[in-house]
Amino acid sequence: MKKIEAIIRPENLEPLRLHLESLGYPGMSVTEIVGHGKQRGVTHQWRGTQYKTPFLPKIKVELVVSDKLVDKLIEGILDVCASGKVGDGKIFVYKVDDAIRISSKETGEKAID
Ligand SMILES: Nc1ncnc2c1ncn2[C@@H]1O[C@H](COP(=O)(O)OP(=O)(O)OP(=O)(O)O)[C@@H](O)[C@H]1O
Ligand SMILES: [Mg+2]
Repeated sequence: MKKIEAIIRPENLEPLRLHLESLGYPGMSVTEIVGHGKQRGVTHQWRGTQYKTPFLPKIKVELVVSDKLVDKLIEGILDVCASGKVGDGKIFVYKVDDAIRISSKETGEKAID
């Protein structure tokens, strides 16, 4: 099992959810976050003064899935979220040791089928 953590532009959340729905996935967690990558946020100028906004709002989507779904879902995220502009976001992939569905006490892949 892997956890796919995608940090995306907020406006891409609903299109992404719809697209991933068509590909199939077991569940997702969504968190509103702020963050920055290598541009360190944005700088605005107002009446000759520079103002820095170090953190920009993003959405973090987390999906714990079986290994066989990982490539397809990452491709799906890229299809929806890649505009080619800076700030499109990032995808991190983690190994997941175990999952437990609390209601049935199923573990491992059975907990996320
Ligand atoms: N190394 C990182 N560690 C943790 N979170 C990160 C990292 N890089 C980016 N993020 C998160 O992803 C969000 C979007 O990052 P962003 O797409 O701007 O990355 P980038 O590396 O600056 O690439 P780009 O040049 O395309 O903008 C950030 O706001 C932050 O929440
Ligand atoms: Mg950036």
